[in-house]
Amino acid sequence: MTIKAQRGTKDILPEESTTWQWIRKQAQNVFQNAGFGEISTPIFEATELFNRGVGDSTDIVNKEMYTFCVGGADKNASSITLRPENTAGVVRAYIEHNLNRISPPQKFWYFAPMFRYERPQAGRQRQFHQVGVEMFGASEPAADAEIILSAVELLNSLGLNNLSVELNTLGCKNCKNDYREAIKEVIKPYLPDMCDDCKMRFEKNPLRMLDCKNEACQKIFEKEEVKKVILKDYICNDCKEHFDELIKYLDSLNINYKINKMLVRGLDYYNRTVFEIKSESLGSQSAVCGGGRYDGLVEMLGGSPTPAIGFAMGVERLCALIDKKEPEKLDYYIVSTNTAEAIKLARKLRKMNKKVDYDFQGKKFSKQLEKASKIANFALILGDDEIEQKFYSVKNLSTGEQVKVSDINKL
Ligand code: HAM
Repeated sequence: MTIKAQRGTKDILPEESTTWQWIRKQAQNVFQNAGFGEISTPIFEATELFNRGVGDSTDIVNKEMYTFCVGGADKNASSITLRPENTAGVVRAYIEHNLNRISPPQKFWYFAPMFRYERPQAGRQRQFHQVGVEMFGASEPAADAEIILSAVELLNSLGLNNLSVELNTLGCKNCKNDYREAIKEVIKPYLPDMCDDCKMRFEKNPLRMLDCKNEACQKIFEKEEVKKVILKDYICNDCKEHFDELIKYLDSLNINYKINKMLVRGLDYYNRTVFEIKSESLGSQSAVCGGGRYDGLVEMLGGSPTPAIGFAMGVERLCALIDKKEPEKLDYYIVSTNTAEAIKLARKLRKMNKKVDYDFQGKKFSKQLEKASKIANFALILGDDEIEQKFYSVKNLSTGEQVKVSDINKL
């Protein structure tokens, strides 16, 4: 029996990798132009990092982590987890390498695989990739605007101009509590009708109940008295000012946004600004980008108090939205039955940074030309006459025009 790729994983074949390389290149341009440095952290980390960082009321930690024990029954055995997201890992690296010594804000970007044991469906894999940024050391609303702007700029550079940004504020340590209590009070009578996850969230992180996709729970959130609490502003003056300032920046940048009071995000670390960018054409997995502020996470993971904000986009979802890029053609395909000469010529041209290939299987001239016309811009013909009289015949494969060239450096 042949062995297949695991459910929820996908091979990225050469014909698709042109699009991937292009997305990575666009991200590199947009982020590096805005002063972000690239960071790569290991794909596995101590399980505790995610338990503490992402939070034990989240689906990610409770149901979706690829966790295993290494070290056997030994007393040094440790539990490690394939990263389900990258914010916790970047925060760990930020603390471990004292990156706060760089003058703030410290700005990082990444393009990397993530792992979540979810039920696979269109737009949802078990191994997927995120391109994202994390910024540390800036608490100002302008930092939130800068991060949302970076996300919008990347999407625009990929030709995605009409996606809408959904925005909310979760408040800070102080005002979040009033909101939590109000939600708990209004939901309490309905709790027996809610799903098991919401019953657990009710105790651990009541705001996360609003993220529940269960139909029975959704109906409860639509009840008049519950809606009233959701829509009422519980946030303190400082948080309100922060959010209002952010909105002014977004308006001045002509960034389209919609305030969505139900937007709470699926991870525990957020406070104040949270946002998502969605595309209707993606169906039920419509979020292309998710992010927000996480001012308490660095301290919670053992660093000094540091404001922070970031986002991540799903690369597979971006791929589904953009037109496929055609692989670039070779500059030359050498058509020759003299393999020894063809190898030498290919080596020379590759050193000149030309993309070159040739036949080394003794195929007929006509077959080689056929292949050349599929994969190259020019055929570089090296027949007996050419070798004897020391010239090259260069055939333009789109026009059919053929010229003689005596000096390879003039190609
Ligand atoms: P997230 O919302 O869990 O946030 O994921 C961000 C994006 O990753 C989603 O909007 C989606 O495009 C993509 N994504 C998530 N799960 C899958 C999946 N199973 N298959 C395919 N694509 C998926 C985070 O991960 C946060 N760390 C974002 C962040 C960075 N917040 C602050 N900094």
